Amino acid sequence: MPEQKKLRSHDWFGKTDKMGFIYRSWMRNQGLPDHAFDGRPIIGICNTWSEFTPCNAHFRELAEYVKRGVYEAGGFPFEFPIMSLGETLLKPTAMLFRNLASMDAEESIRGNPMDGVILLCGCDKTTPSTMMGAASVDLPTLVISGGPMLNGKYRGEEIGSGTAVWQLSENLRAGKITQEEFFYAESCQSRSRGHCMTMGTASTMACMVESLGMGMPQNAAIPAVDSRRRTLSHMAGRRIVEMVHEDLKMSKVLTREAFENAIVTNAAIGGSTNAIIHLLAIAGRLGVELNLDDFDRLGHNIPLLVNLMPSGKFLMEDFYYAGGLPAVLKELKEHLHWDAMTVNGKTIGENSEAAPCYNEEVITSTDKAFKERSGIAVIKGNLAENGAVIKPSAATPALMKHRGRAVVFETIEDYHARIDDPELDIDETCVMVLKQVGPKGYPGMPEVGNLGLPKKVLEKGIEDMVRISDGRMSGTAYGTVVLHVSPESAVGGTLALVQDGDIIELDVEARKLHLDVSDEELDERRKQWEATNLGYGRGYAQLYIDHVQQADLGADFDFLRGGSGSEVPRDSH
Ligand code: FES
Repeated sequence: MPEQKKLRSHDWFGKTDKMGFIYRSWMRNQGLPDHAFDGRPIIGICNTWSEFTPCNAHFRELAEYVKRGVYEAGGFPFEFPIMSLGETLLKPTAMLFRNLASMDAEESIRGNPMDGVILLCGCDKTTPSTMMGAASVDLPTLVISGGPMLNGKYRGEEIGSGTAVWQLSENLRAGKITQEEFFYAESCQSRSRGHCMTMGTASTMACMVESLGMGMPQNAAIPAVDSRRRTLSHMAGRRIVEMVHEDLKMSKVLTREAFENAIVTNAAIGGSTNAIIHLLAIAGRLGVELNLDDFDRLGHNIPLLVNLMPSGKFLMEDFYYAGGLPAVLKELKEHLHWDAMTVNGKTIGENSEAAPCYNEEVITSTDKAFKERSGIAVIKGNLAENGAVIKPSAATPALMKHRGRAVVFETIEDYHARIDDPELDIDETCVMVLKQVGPKGYPGMPEVGNLGLPKKVLEKGIEDMVRISDGRMSGTAYGTVVLHVSPESAVGGTLALVQDGDIIELDVEARKLHLDVSDEELDERRKQWEATNLGYGRGYAQLYIDHVQQADLGADFDFLRGGSGSEVPRDSH
C-alpha cells in the first residue's frame, strides 16, 4: 500500500461505523477489492463523454488509459459523467449551459469521495465548464484534452472545421459551388474522432490548458487518434496520484502568473476570442484578479507565431508535427512567467526550454512572425462602455479603421429574414449591427457575431464588412467582427439605441468604437427604450437571465464567483 496520510476520501471509506458500511458496501457491487478502500488516493475521472458531443465521443476509451496510469501509481480510479455540451447540436447555444455544467462538475467533485480529479474535455464549452467547477472545489486537478481531428481533406485540399463551413456556405450563396459539392464536403471535413482541428475555441482552450500549466506538455496538439494521446492519458493518470501526495491543488497552479501566460499564448497562437470569456470566468472562481484590459495590455504586442486557420493556413495535426505548443512557448520565453508551476511538477520553462520546432512554415520564431502584433484588441467608446473585443489577426486590415452607416438587425431572426432581401439598403461600406445576442438577450450569447454578408454584396466579390454585436463568434470564424459589446443591448447598453443610418466609427489602433449620435439624442432614445420580455418565466433559462454577468466579467453567474472548497462536513445518512 502506497502511504497512510489521511486523505479526503478517508472521510467516506475510512469509517468503521454504519456510515463506513454504507459508503463501501454499495460500491462493492462493482466488484471492488478491499484494497480499494485502504487509504490509497481515489481519483475521479470527470468525463464529458456523450454521443451528442461528437468531439468527445472517444472519451470512454481515453478514460481507460487514465485508469491504467492511476492503478500503476497506486491510486484507485472512478469515472463519472457530467453534463456534456456539444457545440454543434445544443440549442439554443451550448454557451447557455456552460455555467450549468460547471455547477454539475463542482457539486459532483465536491460531493463524492475523491482526492484528485482528472477533467476529460474537448469540445468548446466542456473545457471551461469543468475547469470552472473544479476551481471552485480546488482539489489536485489535471486536465486532459481529447485532441483535435485529423486535417479535413476535400478534393485534394486541406479544409478546417468550422472555417470550411463559413467559406463553403458563402460560396454556395454566391453560386460558386453546387449543393452536391456542399453536401460532399461534410464528411471530408470531419473524418476522424476529435474536436475541431482549426485554431477554434476547442484547440484554443486546449492550448490554454497547457499554457496555464493545467495539462501535460503536448496536451494541446496531439491528434485524438494518435496513439500518443492515449499515452498522455496514461501518464496523466500516473501523475494525478503523485499530485495528490504532493497536495498540488488547482489554486497552486492557476495563479495570476499562469493566467498572464495564457493571455500571451492566446495572442501568439491567434486563439479564439472565446478564451477571453472563459479565462475571466475561471479566474473569477479562484479569486484571481483578471480583467478585460489585461488581455489588451499583455497581448497586444505579442507576435503571431502560429500559421493555423482561421488566421492562417495550417491545421492542428500540422501544429503537432511541427512541435506543438511547447515550441511556441519556447519562443515566448521573454514574455512568459518562465517559473510558473505546471501539473507535471515542472515549470513552464523546464517543460519548454528545449522544445524543438520541425516546421517553420507552421510555427515561426519571434523575429520572423507571421504578424507583428496578434493579441485581441479591447475597444471602448460610447457604444461599448465596458468594452468589446476584436481579433485583428482574423480581420481585414483595411477595415480596422472604418466609418460607416449602420444597418441594424434587432434580433438574429430579423437578420435572417432580411439579409438577402434585394431591397435591403446596404453595401460594403455599411456597418452591420446585430442586437439581442448577448448573455441575457438571447439568452446564452450565441456564436452569431460573424453574421454572413448580404448576398448582393457577396456577389460583388466582397468578403468582409464591419460587423458589431453583443454576441460571440466561433473561434473558427474570421472577419472584421466586433464582439462581446458590454453592456449588452438587452440591459439597455448603447447598442440597444443604434438605429439604421447612424454613423459608427471603428478605430482598432485607437481602441475606439464610437456611435456618432449626440448625448442628448441618445438620452431621448434611452427614455423610449424598453427591455424585451423573452417569455421564459421559469426554469434554467430564467435562472440564467437573472444571474448571468456581462461578457467583460466572463458571463459567469454572480453567485458562482469564488469557491467553496472541498469540505463537506455532513454525512449522507
Ligand atoms: Fe466540438 Fe468544434 S464542435 S470542438
